[in-house]
Amino acid sequence: MPVSEADRLSLSDSETFQDHAKPHRIFTQLRAEEPVAWCPEPWGGPGFWSITKYDDIQEISKLPKIFSSDQNHGGVTLPSPEMIANRANLPKQEVQSPLELAQFEGGRSMITMDPPDHIQHRRMVAPGFTPNTLDALEPRIRERAQVILDALDGQEECEFVSAVAAELPVQMLAELFNVAQADRHKLFEWSNLIIGGDDPDIAVSREHVMGAFMELAGYAMGLFEDRKKNPGNDLITMLVNTEVDGQPMNVADYLSAFVLLVVAGNETTRNSISGGTLALSQNPAERQKLVDDPSLIPQAVDEIIRWVHPVVYMRRTALEDYEIRGVKIKTGDKLALWYMSGNRDEDKWDEPFTFNVTRGGPRHLSFGYGQHLCIGWRLAEIQLGILLEEMLARYPTITATGEVTRMRTNFLNSIKTMPVRLSAA
Ligand code: HEM
Repeated sequence: MPVSEADRLSLSDSETFQDHAKPHRIFTQLRAEEPVAWCPEPWGGPGFWSITKYDDIQEISKLPKIFSSDQNHGGVTLPSPEMIANRANLPKQEVQSPLELAQFEGGRSMITMDPPDHIQHRRMVAPGFTPNTLDALEPRIRERAQVILDALDGQEECEFVSAVAAELPVQMLAELFNVAQADRHKLFEWSNLIIGGDDPDIAVSREHVMGAFMELAGYAMGLFEDRKKNPGNDLITMLVNTEVDGQPMNVADYLSAFVLLVVAGNETTRNSISGGTLALSQNPAERQKLVDDPSLIPQAVDEIIRWVHPVVYMRRTALEDYEIRGVKIKTGDKLALWYMSGNRDEDKWDEPFTFNVTRGGPRHLSFGYGQHLCIGWRLAEIQLGILLEEMLARYPTITATGEVTRMRTNFLNSIKTMPVRLSAA
């Protein structure tokens, strides 16, 4: 049965993703009937191709010279400035799509660059993510996870996102930036604002959003000046004290890179912790396997990140005509690589809709693939793994209770609040 026009249109609508059952139904039908599907845009935009099969997402991701991420070709997100503005009742000339908002004054970060510029910018911060650097961080991640969980002692219930899931990634980000831990609350708030432009609870008013961005830019510039004088081993120093084509890093690119790290290192890991805890509490037999045998946790980390798909899609723009599965993509066409769908591809996994902590099988697509493969993937896995070990040792029956609220966005799978019961009643 062909996928209806209404379903195609609904993929542009953040409301559709408030409950993941609906988009999963549409993607399952698309994978079966029309894996490369044209989707019109409700706001009158030109439309885009939905890429829903695992192999096709990989194929396109391997061709960054044909399928561009560059913001001059449209960047990596789909919604139009108009759509964001309408949703949040913000004037369009002042507010653009969430990630573009981050591109201060024409600045670019690696995620919205193509080769060869991309690799130059990626190399700047790569020393922060080497296996040796991450090994050295592990004990501190464990210590922080323990302190976060210690704070729950004596409580029977808590709001999991603010008490646990948000804390570890943002504490680690403050550490990687070498800024005061007290500043982590600001990093958390800014990151929500960058991503939550489509959520009226977050983008409450134009003044609020713009005020926060000015504050963020001021904060980032303070660090820029400081690290020029007092260089260290942190990510900010790596960005500030570097050269691009023989020139010092320009301020606009620095600000964009700062914003990218604030969002990428924060939201996604938080959502894998909260989404993973939700999945374990909905599948108590799987949770019990990890309690009985913690050596299964690395496998469970893979399954959680497949299951949760913290990033729902990334966009590309075709710079050449290209044919995939007999469908002709034309120069200038937009494409959405739906990781959410690729991670449920029936050709890759048996029973992809079953949460199975011992699954194994092919690598999920949640970290992307190819040129832009997530630079922080291992850091995210280590944080999630350590947190699970520490948490399940203390709270083997931790269970989500009550209503889970989600951010209104089709870009991230983001849980805003999730009440949990820590111990068996
Ligand atoms: C579970 C956690 C995470 C998920 C699901 C995730 C997901 C992704 C995805 C899908 C991309 C690819 C973008 C594209 O192809 O256009 C990406 C890129 C990136 N991620 Fe992550 N990420 C996570 C954690 C992190 C962390 C902890 C950091 C840093 C502290 C980070 C930093 C980045 C950066 C800098 C890029 C851009 C890489 C490039 O363009 O070459 N991410 N991430």
